[in-house]
Amino acid sequence: MQIKAQLSHAIEAAFSTLGLDGAALVQTSSRPEHGDYQANGVMAAAKRAKRNPREVAAEVIEVLDLTGIASKVDIAGPGFLNITLAADFLAGVDAGHVTASPTPQRVVVDYSAPNLAKEMHVGHLRSTIIGDCIVRVLEAQGHTVLRQNHVGDWGTQFGMLLTYLSDNAANSDSLAYLEDFYRAAKKRFDEDEDFQQRARRAVVELQAGDDHALDMWQHFITVSMSHCQDIYNRLDVTLDESHIQGESAYNDALPGVVEQLQDKGLLTESEGAQCVFLDEFKTKKGEILPVIVQKSDGGYLYATTDLAAVAYRSNELNADRVLYFTDARQALHFKQIFAVARAAGFTDSATSLEHMPFGAMLGDDGKPFKTRAGTVVKLADLLDEAELRATRLVRSKNPDLDEDIATELGHVIGIGAVKYADLSKNRTSDYVFNWEQMISFDGNTSPYLQYAYTRIASIFARGQIDPQTLPAHASAVEEPERRLAVMIAGFNDTLEAVASEGMPHLLCGYLYELATRFTSFYEACPILSSSADVRERRLVLARQTADTLRRGLDLLGIGVVEQM
Ligand code: ARG
Repeated sequence: MQIKAQLSHAIEAAFSTLGLDGAALVQTSSRPEHGDYQANGVMAAAKRAKRNPREVAAEVIEVLDLTGIASKVDIAGPGFLNITLAADFLAGVDAGHVTASPTPQRVVVDYSAPNLAKEMHVGHLRSTIIGDCIVRVLEAQGHTVLRQNHVGDWGTQFGMLLTYLSDNAANSDSLAYLEDFYRAAKKRFDEDEDFQQRARRAVVELQAGDDHALDMWQHFITVSMSHCQDIYNRLDVTLDESHIQGESAYNDALPGVVEQLQDKGLLTESEGAQCVFLDEFKTKKGEILPVIVQKSDGGYLYATTDLAAVAYRSNELNADRVLYFTDARQALHFKQIFAVARAAGFTDSATSLEHMPFGAMLGDDGKPFKTRAGTVVKLADLLDEAELRATRLVRSKNPDLDEDIATELGHVIGIGAVKYADLSKNRTSDYVFNWEQMISFDGNTSPYLQYAYTRIASIFARGQIDPQTLPAHASAVEEPERRLAVMIAGFNDTLEAVASEGMPHLLCGYLYELATRFTSFYEACPILSSSADVRERRLVLARQTADTLRRGLDLLGIGVVEQM
């Protein structure tokens, strides 16, 4: 149930009853003395009507119908409305239950998209885990999600790679370490002129659809993709082979893209290349930045492929929304692609195209995250280290842990910590990757939330209570109980914002606040030692907290354990 939307609708209905013109913006209150929610909008409406805002607020409250949802509305400061939720309303909330969207959409989510010439590295980690969280939330809300893994599986570097592969055909293991393979091929390419020529010929053969070249290419792609799939599985990311729609999938569509741009009169030849110049992409000096769609040698570009992809997603997949998760450096690329696609009619205004950029992952030195030796960090190595460190952490808390259990905990906590560290930062900013901070039980971390979950589980264990036998609902009475119940009720407000803005950190912040409110509640309100009815309602609140934590972490793609 979305509370903010309900409250703003009711307030806006009151506005229109009073002949006022305005919108209501409802926020959760960070301070209890401001009620559970605070609405803004009266001041602006009063100003427009040239009236005293507190007077207008009083009239709004007079006609406002919040039956069944709020028990009290107060005027605060210059004309804010402080809203207190009704006890019956809170008692009726289905904890951890995701409300279905009243307007389900078809949403294409373009994420992960590693370049298959090399091993997947940390640069694609953010796209993969942020995209996967948004996918999970959208699906839970009942949207039809079409995952598109737009892998880089085409381009001139494959000529070099395939030539090197065929020169080393005797070594069946040569692709086991893709990064090393790439480096060796590149070295040969740079040093050996004959090799260079053969590599160039291989590209031509590949593009001409030569059977042998295509077989080699397919073999290479399969091996490289299986490396990625291993990472997805370890990360518990919901991508599989069926979601791959790489650059190569658009090959046949590329000549048509250029033709259509030509027909629309959008193409200009510039130094032999085919370009689209749109007035809106002027540099500071007033020069227009072109979108190049075909090089002078006839080759197509990343942009051409993306234009074909927009058309496919819009017209074949019938997307209402297309979300692109890539790093912020591609912001101009997508702005241009979206503008050209609209101008050319590859998509229409019914399809929303949204670039969801993210910042870089930095090392302690504030520079792009690298190994000590200055090379790119392999994801597999990063995940190994996360598991190792997490296993050490659980061992330090509980030295007698069984080997198998410690390893399993190390996996769930270590992988969760890496994902959460990324998801909990506002995606648009750069962030510093810091092991000590993320693999810790203190602060806004996943180990903290996973631990909070096990603490609740241990209350049930100690009381020998099966949480399933408790009633689904209970009424909060005391203030710490109420504050907790209000937080539990706000789950879907958060999810709505996560889905519309593509911002997982809002869910992380929510879960952290939930765990914090649980701690305050638990400190103030004894559970197992209370009298039967008090104990029951507090147990229900504890279970609801656990259900919401588990569901929320699951939407982040992070697991829980019952014991640590
Ligand atoms: N492979 C690209 C890269 O690594 C990302 C692709 C993103 N998706 C797209 N439709 N361009 O930069």
